[in-house]
Amino acid sequence: MIERLCTQRACLRFAGAAVADRAGAILEIGLGKGRTYDFLRKQFPQREIFAFDRTLHCAEDVRPDPEHLILGEFLITLPAHAARTGHTAALAHADIGSEDPARDARLANSIAPLIDRLVQREGLVLTDRAMSMPAWIRLPLPPDAGDWPYYIYEVG
Ligand SMILES: C[S@@+](CC[C@H](N)C(=O)[O-])C[C@H]1O[C@@H](n2cnc3c(N)ncnc32)[C@H](O)[C@@H]1O
Repeated sequence: MIERLCTQRACLRFAGAAVADRAGAILEIGLGKGRTYDFLRKQFPQREIFAFDRTLHCAEDVRPDPEHLILGEFLITLPAHAARTGHTAALAHADIGSEDPARDARLANSIAPLIDRLVQREGLVLTDRAMSMPAWIRLPLPPDAGDWPYYIYEVG
């Protein structure tokens, strides 16, 4: 858990610096307990951050306001959000992993094209599960990332 959190912190800091001069919302795909959402909202105090999850199960003090909380299955909510915003997000953080790697791989494959419809060209996708999109370029992790698998893609 410590390696995971250290890797997430390093990657989110790296992404924060990379998109600092780029307008656009942040997408937290997998709000969960709100740990990384809390980090993101401190890192991007002026940005809109939209958080997605099937259900709301984080503590009250890390809950997004209702306009920025999008509950439901990713396969439904991500295309619906794309229909509203198009390719405008600067950064998507997809923290979707569970204890079932095969199910996670299927989910990652299903949502990668949906994320592609949401993020602007040269925007970033950070994720805890590998995603395969032909136009995305995988970037190296920052040197201070912990010993935990994580993936950073530039949207091409
Ligand atoms: C690893 S947790 C997110 C952890 C969170 N980022 C944090 O730092 O606390 C993954 C989350 O994705 C959500 N999730 C997984 N599959 C989903 C799906 N198909 N649709 C919507 N939410 C899903 C789960 O409910 C879970 O809260």
